[in-house]
This record gives sequence, structure tokens and C-alpha cells, in this order.
Amino acid sequence: MKSPEDLVDALTLDEQISLLAGADVWQTVAIPRAGIPSMRVTDGPAGARGTRFDGERSINTPCGTLLAATWDPAVVEEIGHVLGRETKSKGAKVLLAPTVNLHRTPVGGRNFECMSEDPLLTAKTAVGFVRGLQSEGVAACIKHFVGNDTEFERMSIDSRIDERTMREMYLVPFEAAVKEAKVMSIMTAYNRINGPFAADSTELLVDILRGEWGFDGLVMSDWFGLHSTAEGINAGLDLEMPGPTRCRGDALAAAVEAGLVDRAAVRAAALNVVTLLARTETLGEAGPGPEHARADIDADLAIVRRAASSGMVLLQNRADSDGATTLPLVPELLRRVALIGPNAEFGQILGGGSAHVNPISVSTPLGALCARLAPLGVDVVHAPGCYIHRNLPELRLDDCADVVVEYYADPDSLDHAQLAPDRTDTTSSSKMMWMSDPLSRPGSALPMGVRFLALFTPRVSGVWQFSVTATNLAALVIDGRTVVDNADAGLGGSFFGMGRNEAVGTVQLEAGHPYELVAELRCPAGGLGVAGLHLGACAPPDPYIMDHAVEAARDADVSIVVVGTNHDWECEGWDRATLDLPGEQNELVRRVAAASRRTVVVVNAGSPVAMPWLADVDAVLCCWFPGQEMGNALVDVLLGDTEPQGRLPVTFPRTLEDTPAFEHYPGRAGVANYGEGRLIGYRWYDTVGREPLFPFGFGLGYAKASITTARLVNDHAIEVTLGNTGDRDAVEVVQVYMHATKPPQPGSDTPDQTLVGFAKVNVAKHSSNSVTIAVDPRAYQTWDVSTHGWIAVSGPFVLRIGTSSRDIAVRLQANG
Ligand code: BGC
Repeated sequence: MKSPEDLVDALTLDEQISLLAGADVWQTVAIPRAGIPSMRVTDGPAGARGTRFDGERSINTPCGTLLAATWDPAVVEEIGHVLGRETKSKGAKVLLAPTVNLHRTPVGGRNFECMSEDPLLTAKTAVGFVRGLQSEGVAACIKHFVGNDTEFERMSIDSRIDERTMREMYLVPFEAAVKEAKVMSIMTAYNRINGPFAADSTELLVDILRGEWGFDGLVMSDWFGLHSTAEGINAGLDLEMPGPTRCRGDALAAAVEAGLVDRAAVRAAALNVVTLLARTETLGEAGPGPEHARADIDADLAIVRRAASSGMVLLQNRADSDGATTLPLVPELLRRVALIGPNAEFGQILGGGSAHVNPISVSTPLGALCARLAPLGVDVVHAPGCYIHRNLPELRLDDCADVVVEYYADPDSLDHAQLAPDRTDTTSSSKMMWMSDPLSRPGSALPMGVRFLALFTPRVSGVWQFSVTATNLAALVIDGRTVVDNADAGLGGSFFGMGRNEAVGTVQLEAGHPYELVAELRCPAGGLGVAGLHLGACAPPDPYIMDHAVEAARDADVSIVVVGTNHDWECEGWDRATLDLPGEQNELVRRVAAASRRTVVVVNAGSPVAMPWLADVDAVLCCWFPGQEMGNALVDVLLGDTEPQGRLPVTFPRTLEDTPAFEHYPGRAGVANYGEGRLIGYRWYDTVGREPLFPFGFGLGYAKASITTARLVNDHAIEVTLGNTGDRDAVEVVQVYMHATKPPQPGSDTPDQTLVGFAKVNVAKHSSNSVTIAVDPRAYQTWDVSTHGWIAVSGPFVLRIGTSSRDIAVRLQANG
């Protein structure tokens, strides 16, 4: 087979240019005469979705925060393997993952996809992820390089990050993935970085990524995130995504002709594309294969279940006067369990946006708890307790008959009843999104009209709410009456922040009577590149929903309240407005806790939430968005089959006002000033002396291992011994923080301490165990802005060894 160099050198300039943008939303361009096939990429990071949002099903793995909460890169590496196998099942060669932006503020809309507030923990987690994935022959595409840490004006905001903060914080995970895991591709961020768009940044792409770090893989833009013809390619942005091109093609040929872009730059970018094809063994293949959902996935589901349970964090577990703790539940002592909460029945397994996948199957909290407890004679009673939807729940097609979707090439055709559609289809979901043209026309952002028709039969009578959430103008008509019209809806609240806000209307309906539903969407030419129509429907609310839950709690031995957010609250495209649990959940927890003998709260959210009821409840378990094995993994921890061993990868603050970026977030006049510098997460709380609700690194077990001794092997290795005198095997995460003793300059953003090493250790009952923890080679260095390089910090240093950022058992002096 020819080398990538030979293949590229045999191409004409136009052919080389054609390789530099996608052919369509998910695939690169093929040049059959030259033996270059097309290659498919897919999202990422919590599964491998394939080319359609409603397409073939995939295994849904835990979200990024949960993966980091395992503090166990080996477990994450196994998840990487699962994702590699899944990516191949979708005929794809690149998974658009992992997401390694940092949790600068707890309200970041994509925090659930990202991993941590700490660069080292993010880096180690990402390296495990990339290694596992790439060892399956699939390329990782680490994203978003760099500064896309919140969703506010994400397509245009200028993230102003000072040089040292950039080097010591935001670049660290990318650098580790390049140097330690040899990541094969990288995606630039939407935003600007200190001026230029990330996709055009010579400093980032030429000087740092390729120059200093020696990256030899492919750089692709985020979707519609390239805005230039010459600047991007001159900065080394190889592949514009998606296709067909907006910035390249003839425009790039003209730029070469005009001398604005060197032919060598085109060749280099084309070579990076073809090299990725070679590295993923795509050359020689006929092109992307078919997409399917894998069979025989039991072993992979077991990996997902184990990872999910090992990232759940036990935050509180009170004991009664006899010393018996609330958790683990002991089925022999239970007669009835009340499973309460808006997320109790189905659970929220994943966050919203491009991270969405269509899960193969879902182990729900209710299903798994019943399956585990019913055979033991324990009753499980369920009550939702309150509503938390941000947008109305999707219209259930189970309640619909004769579902048809009609497509028209011209949206005006919708006004002429006599015109036949250009294509008729059906749909498996009332949440419809098209990233490629459903009429298979060449080009992108084409005009179209969509009409959804169904016969809807309500289960209950009363005033129903209906909604349309769409990228463009849309309306919903029921039995000839317009119930919803989004003409006045504001922009930005849907479809990655590009679509219109939800529009809601009400109508009185009778149970059992079929109603004719017609929804229409009109997309003009030159649209967004994505079209979407989500239909929502909500039965008349039950005014006694909370009272029913409180009754259930009163009759139970223990109440488990699953509260949290959902994929509309935590979603790509917008940030959360507050840390508060949506809806009446705080009130629900308070009332259940007052009525119940014992109350366990399960927090099902991708990032921190406020817990004003903490003192009222007996136990709190944070389960993040744990993926499709949610129910099984939760039951494993609640019943003690798995030892709780997750530790917080993010600080849980008391209030939003306490958080590090509060003064600077979200930004103004197109600029997000990262004025808090390096002081994000625990670095902030520990340096300014602010009390968090739960500190970084914190988490309880059912068993307890204590650090008994720690000794410095040398400045780069510490040996730690833990003892467990109890009757249960323990798992502990030992953490090492470096504190520089030299007082910082007044007003500086030098953190009081930084995480420089960690290890997860098993300590069997009545025994001890030792572990040697490597100290990060950068522990004693800082980025110097005058020499633009790493320099040694003057010591001495104190290495703090403990089980959270605030629970330090041993302090050792090191010289660095
Ligand atoms: C997201 C990326 C994603 C891409 C493709 C963008 O909106 O920012 O993370 O990979 O879409 O879906």
C-alpha cells in the first residue's frame, strides 16, 4: 500500500483541497481514483451515536464527571475500550471525545461532559480514556481546544486567559493527551482565545500544539466553528467540519492562487487527513461501513456498570444511636421502601446536546430496585413527588397512531394542501433533528418544509399543555385549531443554543378521544446547518403529586429520593442559571425527610447542586449521569455490593456567590475575562479560606481505611500505608497536594495547594496496604511569563497527604 505522502503527492491541488472539509456532516471526502476512501467520525463522549440522533442504538457510558470521580484511570481505560468497540459498530473511525475543558464555574452547561476542576485529575482521566479508545484502532478527538469552559455566547466569546493560567490549567489535559496518550486528533473550540478564533490561532496550533508538544495528528474544527479561509489553514487547522465546505473549496483555491496560502500548507493539511486514515486502517477499505447496534454486549455492560458504581460519591451517611448507618440498606430489616422523586422512575442517564446517544437499554432506578428487593419480600412504592421539566416532556408516540412525516423541498409548499410531499416517512420519536438533508440534496442549510401528522389519544381528560421547540418557525394545530405558534419565541434556548425557545399552548382534551395533530416546520434557505422540531405534551398536572410522595414516605422504612436535573437543564448550548435543583425538589426533600423514618437522597446531576436540606436527611449519594446501567449501579452501591469509592472531582459550593468565577462570569461585550486566573475549584476555596459544602476529593465509604504512615521516597515519589481495622474491605483514594511555603506576592493567584498525585487503594478488612504515589513532574514548577517557559519554584515545599483537599493526614517536607 502507498504511503500517505505518496498518496497526497499524487493528488492535484484541487483534490488536496477537497480533503480539507467534510463531505457531509460526519464523513470526510473520498477520492476513489487515488484510493482514498471516506472516513466517518461520530460523537462522543458518552457513547458512539452514529450519523443520526434517532439512529441505531449505542451503549451509553457514564458522563465525564462520573469518570473523573472514579479517580481510577484504569477503569476509565476500560470504558475507552467499550467506546472503541461501539465506534466501530457505527462504521466510524474517530470518536469526538473526550471533552476536557475545566469546570471553571459549576453552572457550565457541559460540565457533565467534562471531567473536573483540576487539570491533573482531568489529564489522568483523559489519558486513560484515550489509551483505551485508541487501542481499539479508533482515534480519539480530544476537545475543545481551548477555553470553551462555559456555553455563554460560545460561538463568538473571546476567552481571555492569561499565559500562566493557560499553561498551568486549561492546556494541561490536552498536553497530557498528546504527550502521554498520543491522541490522534484534536477539535478546536468555537470561541476566540485572546483575540483570534481558536480555529485560527497560530499560537495554539502552530507554536504550542505542533511546535512544543510535537503533535503529529489531525486538527479539526468544531461543527461550523471555522470562519476563515486563509487564517485557519495557515494556523494548521486541517479539517473543516462539517461539510460541504463553507470556507474552503474554491475559496481556498483562490487564496492559494492569490498567494495568501502556501501550497505546502494545503499539502500538510491533506497529509494529516490521509495519515489519520492510515492510522485508523481506513485506507484500503471501501468507505464507512453500515451502522448497527452490537449484540453480545453483556461483558461491556458489566464494565459500564462497574465504572458507574465506582464513580458514585457517598457524601453523607448518618448512624443511629446504636451506631447503625443508614447505608448500606439491609433488606432483611426492610418491609417497605419508598422510591420518590422526579428522576426515580426512569433516571437521568445522560446530559443534553451532541453528547446524546440512543441507549441500547436502560436499567432504571425503579426497575433495578424492584428486581433486587421484590424477591426478598420488600415492597417498593414509587411516587414522583414533583415535576422538573424545563421544556415539556416529549410527546409520547405510544399515545399516537398513524404517525407520518412529510418533507417538502420548498417550505412554501406547506401552504398548498394539494401539493404532494417530496418524501414521506415516519419517525420513532417526536424529538426530530436533521443534520443532513432528509431529501438527500447536495449542499447544506437547504430550505425545507416538514409536516408531522398523527392521531393523538389522551389518557386523561383536562387541560393539556403542548409545545414546539424548533430551529425555525413552527406551529402545532390540533383538530384544526392552532394551539402553539413559535413566531414570538426568543432565540437561543434549543438546538445547541442556535434554535428558538420553546413555545407552549394549552387545550382542553377528553380521554380516549382521538385528535388530529399537525405540526409544521419551515426552514428557509441558508439556515443553520441543522433543522429540528421537538414536540412536547404534558397531561394536566396532579395537584397532589407531592402529598402522594409524602404519604408513601410515611409508610416506608426508608425513603430514597432521586432528585436532580435533566438533559434540558444540563445541556450543550446554555449554562444553568443557578445551583438550585429545578422545580419543587428542595421542598419535596424537606417534606419527605420530615415524614420518613430515614431519608436517602440520590443526587442525579452532572455537576454540583445546592443542598439546603442537607441537615434534614440521613444519607446523600451523588450518582451524576451514570449511563444506561444507572439502576443496577445505584442498587450495587445502595445495598453495599459495591463499596462507595467515588470522590468528588469538583468542589460542591454552598452558594453560587461563593464560587471562583462568580465575579467574572459570564462575560461582557463579547469577552469572558478569566479574572480568577488559576484560582478555580479548590484552589480558590483553599486560598481565600472559603468553606465549601463538600470539598474537592471528598467521599465516604462504608468501610474506613486510615492513612497510618507516609514517607518521602524522594521528591517525586511517596510511599503511603493505610490500615483497616474494620470488618469490611475498604477502598480509599489517597491524594497528594503540594503547598509552596514561600508566601505568594500580595494579590497573586498562586494557589495554596495543588493536587500533584493520587492513587486508589484497596485495603482488605483487618489488614493494611501500601502504595507508592508518583508526584507530578510539574509539581515544583511554574510557568514563567518573562521567559515563556517552565521554571523551578523555590522551596521548601510541604506535601500534604490525605483523603480530600481538606482532610490531610500527613505533611512531609520536600525540596523539589
Ligand atoms: C459540539 C462538539 C460535537 C460536534 C458534533 C458541536 O456542537 O460542540 O462537541 O462533537 O457538535 O456533534
